[in-house]
Parts: sequence; structure tokens; C-alpha cells
Amino acid sequence: MPEPVSIIGASGALGFGLAVRLARAGCAVTIGSRDHARAEQAAVRAQQAVPGALVAGLDNATAAAGNELVILSVPFRSQAETLHNLGDVLRPGQLVVDCTVPLAAAIGGKATRTIGVWQGSAAQQAQEMVPDGVTVLSALHTVSAALLRDLDHELDEDVLLCGDRRADKRRVAQLLDTIDGLRCVDAGRLEMARLTESLTALMISVNVRYKTHAGVRLTGLPDELWPAP
Ligand SMILES: NC(=O)c1ccc[n+]([C@@H]2O[C@H](COP(=O)([O-])OP(=O)(O)OC[C@H]3O[C@@H](n4cnc5c(N)ncnc54)[C@H](OP(=O)(O)O)[C@@H]3O)[C@@H](O)[C@H]2O)c1
Repeated sequence: MPEPVSIIGASGALGFGLAVRLARAGCAVTIGSRDHARAEQAAVRAQQAVPGALVAGLDNATAAAGNELVILSVPFRSQAETLHNLGDVLRPGQLVVDCTVPLAAAIGGKATRTIGVWQGSAAQQAQEMVPDGVTVLSALHTVSAALLRDLDHELDEDVLLCGDRRADKRRVAQLLDTIDGLRCVDAGRLEMARLTESLTALMISVNVRYKTHAGVRLTGLPDELWPAP
């Protein structure tokens, strides 16, 4: 049974796609929204997409407090505000998987460009903002929300996972690898998120040219990517 997870911003594109894929894998998912009613509506939509799914919809704070594993899936312009609002409910020991991309589009620029974040990446900014003892990881920047949402589509791509502790990354990989067709790859420490976040801009640039939803697949890796310690 996959570990239960809360997804902040799962009324939106990426978070909802993750919610339905994880729910289909048997994971209990809590959808978080700034608006409780919007979260409940998203949960109903997820249950319609995946009959029998264990999906609930709650306000962001209650959702974030409800599980040890929390995925943050909000636009860059609202990342800091969202984390600030969750500051009182996040507690030591929790893992926050940050999907935020600092696209220039957040400030009126192009979606094929990123903006500089003083800390190095949106994920490192998140790590600076969460309460002491909460650990931030970074993942999913190259995975298309549209393909996640389309449950008839067979996924076939890698998830680049960044974080400072191997054990935390293994735990997140165990969750995300339950989604058919996704393979989590250890991409290094959290500071590598400055590169994985910028890959979103690259994917958008490719997607515009080929009118598709391209993913990333690394070659030459061993069969066992998460060997037991
Ligand atoms: N879309 C993709 O394919 C994709 C792929 C990889 C990474 N990403 C990254 O993942 C993150 C989420 O992307 P998305 O496309 O899912 O975004 P989105 O649909 O625009 O927004 C996700 C959710 O964030 C919340 N939100 C929106 N504006 C907000 C604000 N001003 N303050 C607080 N919360 C706000 C909303 O939830 P409530 O209104 O219900 O609170 C919304 O449903 C982004 O950082 C994006 O760059 C996206």
C-alpha cells in the first residue's frame, strides 16, 4: 500500500494529474486548496475518474497537517505565500516534495525562460521557508500535467528527484514509482534542483515545436535505482 500523501494545489493541473494517478495506484490522496469547497469538488472529480479512489478534499492547512508526505504544486508566484500560510501546521519530520518552477511567465515573461532565485532554486527557497525539521525534496518538473491527467495515456518517462538525504528520496521514489510508467532517478542533492527546474523551460520549448508533451528518459542506468542501504 503506497504511503498516503497530501497535495497542495491539487485543484490545479499538475496536482490533480498526480492525484488521479496516485489514487489509481491505491494511494490515499488528500487534495489541498485555499478553498475547501474547491478541494472537495476536485476530490469528486478524482473519484469520478478513478472509481473507488481514496481521495478527500480539504483546505490547504488541514491537508498539509494530515500526512507525513506533502507535495507542493502551486505556481512560483504563490509558492512563498503558500508556504508562509502553512508555517504553523508543517511539523518536524514531514517531507515536502516541491514541484515549483520559477518560470519567467510568473512575472509576465516567457514560459521558455526561468528567473533567478536567490537561494539557487525554488526548492531551496522552499527549504529556507519551511519550519526547522521539515525536509524539502524536488521532483516532477519534466512530467506533463496533461499526460498525468489522461489516464488512458501510458506514461513512459523518468522523474528527476533531488534531495539531500538518500533515505528521503527513496521514500518519495517508493510513492511515485507506484504510478505505472514513471521511474524515479536520484538526480543528486537539493541544489541540483536549479537544473531540474530549468528543464521545464526546455520541455516547453520542445513541446511548442512538436506540439506534444515530451518527457525525459535517461539511458545507461542500472536496473536497480534504489538499492536497499
Ligand atoms: N502543468 C505542468 O505540466 C507542470 C509540470 C511540471 C511542473 N509544474 C509546476 O508545478 C506547479 C503547479 O503547476 P500547475 O500547472 O498545476 O499550476 P496551476 O494549475 O496554475 O495552479 C495549481 C494550484 O495552485 C493554486 N494557486 C494558484 N494561484 C495561487 C495563488 N495566487 N496563491 C495560492 N495558490 C494558488 C490553485 O489552487 P487553489 O486555488 O485551489 O488553492 C491552483 O489550482 C507550478 O510551479 C508549475 O510550474 C507544472
